[in-house]
Amino acid sequence: MAFDRAFLDELNARCDIVDVVGRYVQLKKTGGRYFGLCPFHNEKTGSFCVTPDRQMFHCFGCGMGGGAITFIMHAEGMTFPDAVHFLADQVGLAVPETQSDPREAQHRKRLFEVSVEAARFFRSQLWLPENAKTAAYFLNRGLSRKTMNRFGLGYAPDSFSALINAMAEKGFSKDELVAAGLASKNDHGNIYDRFRNRVMFPIIDVRGQVIAFGGRVMDDSTPKYLNSPETTIFHKSRNLFALNLARKTKSDYFILAEGYMDVIALHQAGFDSAVASLGTALTEEQVRLISRHTGKIVISYDADGAGQKAAQRAIDLLKKTDLQIKVLRIPGAKDPDEFIKAKGADAYRRLIEHSDSDNAYRLDTIAAQYDLDEDEERVRFLHEAAASLAKIDNVIEREVYTGRAAKMARVTVEAMEVEVRRALSIRLKKQKSDKKREIRSVLGAVQPRDRTLHYQNVRSARAEEGIIRLIFADDSLIDEIALRITPQEFTADVLQKIFAYALTLHRQGHRVDIAAYEGYLETNEMQHLTAVIGSDQTSTANWQQALHDYISTIESCRIKSGTDDSGGEDPLLRMSRVHREKDRLGGNLI
Ligand code: UTP
Ligand code: MN
Repeated sequence: MAFDRAFLDELNARCDIVDVVGRYVQLKKTGGRYFGLCPFHNEKTGSFCVTPDRQMFHCFGCGMGGGAITFIMHAEGMTFPDAVHFLADQVGLAVPETQSDPREAQHRKRLFEVSVEAARFFRSQLWLPENAKTAAYFLNRGLSRKTMNRFGLGYAPDSFSALINAMAEKGFSKDELVAAGLASKNDHGNIYDRFRNRVMFPIIDVRGQVIAFGGRVMDDSTPKYLNSPETTIFHKSRNLFALNLARKTKSDYFILAEGYMDVIALHQAGFDSAVASLGTALTEEQVRLISRHTGKIVISYDADGAGQKAAQRAIDLLKKTDLQIKVLRIPGAKDPDEFIKAKGADAYRRLIEHSDSDNAYRLDTIAAQYDLDEDEERVRFLHEAAASLAKIDNVIEREVYTGRAAKMARVTVEAMEVEVRRALSIRLKKQKSDKKREIRSVLGAVQPRDRTLHYQNVRSARAEEGIIRLIFADDSLIDEIALRITPQEFTADVLQKIFAYALTLHRQGHRVDIAAYEGYLETNEMQHLTAVIGSDQTSTANWQQALHDYISTIESCRIKSGTDDSGGEDPLLRMSRVHREKDRLGGNLI
């Protein structure tokens, strides 16, 4: 969704980044900058920096960065448009009717439409006599008809064209089906149904719109689940299965499960606040999403090793928030679905009521590895437990569990406390040196922190970064720079995108600053941009010489890689990339 640039400029002018961030983070002024403890990762010494000159924040520790709107997006777990409204409300500015690109908006609308039509089609297939085995599959797994309808479950027939044909009748093209992730294209350009002979789970966003699907086989073949790919309307890291239902719950906690089937079984058993991540490990965005809707979370993952590992990772992410965390252990069953089927909803409710906090869970997990009747093993337990206890930030909690660990190891509380204090001081020391190393490695980094932005040609990319820095130091230099180098000559995709957009902004008479890139760059790209331009002002005193050096470096890299101006890229690939670039620019112009 695009907002009027002039409105965004006005909004940014009224929202000073120091004020905005200052409401969440205690900032201390040092020189022209402000430092504080990063709200996006756990730290004891401040590596979070706000630069008022650039209206930008950047964390040297975790890499998070951007402008005021980006900050609100992350701090409040909001989308870009929501963050804009949020800030506009605070400063009493009316948000003008959005003037999004009508083509882009229309395209998204079609994708939503085809997705819901597909869901209807799949659902209708479920009850056909010839597909009786499918309905039977769900019924055998204990789902009622009501539950099946509630979740919009369906069946994708064993055919390469059933959906395509059904959607053609409704006026949807094959290309639209591909764009919605419902059809695939093979090497010969043929388009066919992506989901075949699978039971279908629609994924619905908080606004109640179908955005994607998961499809499960009905036997033991693989892959067990096939999910929609990322599309314009589906970002799996930003959605949760069943959040559309869970957000309406009356209970004061959410249940986080691993699988679609677990969530459905939980809802059927009356636990209407169950959600699951979508076939991937829990992400920070999902954590923020959860914490917007509830204050307590019960982790209910599978009992197997993989599930427990995933639970541990989820705990580590969830700990960064204020959420109260509980971890369920399900005795004698492999997952919540199976447990409820075997023991019933009341038994599960008792598990929740009696489940311990994650600290107790950690201690139990450690204890399970040792034979506490053996002296030697008890000592090893003591060390490991102390290291784990030292990670508890809350002093009271730490004391409580120190006492508990002492009991488990049958030593005095005092002895345990000595161990914990020792572990604590080791941890603090290590944290300090880690931080130093982290900051050094960020400053000296040659590759982007985010691997997906990997530079193919580091030397060239460093020079390209230099050009970006010049532009952000003084955007009036752009006219001159544009005469000397084109975006196509940039080798790093992310820098090319940033540079091309700078030219567009400048051509349209807009300022080139961090604020202008908000809502345009993805989170990781924005982080990279703030890392590239850094928090210190770039000197432009000798910019002509600098520009000359950067351009010759880029040229010499190109010659060295033995290619013409295509930068060593396959010509076809390059064409499609350039097209994509154009689309992106065209599609997002504000
Ligand atoms: P599970 O295998 O535990 O799924 O994987 P489940 O929902 O409990 O399935 P049932 O009970 O065997 O039918 C957990 C989640 O991981 C994702 C899915 O989101 C699934 O719900 N997953 C699993 C995939 O995306 N692909 C796979 O091949 C397997
Ligand atoms: Mn399962």
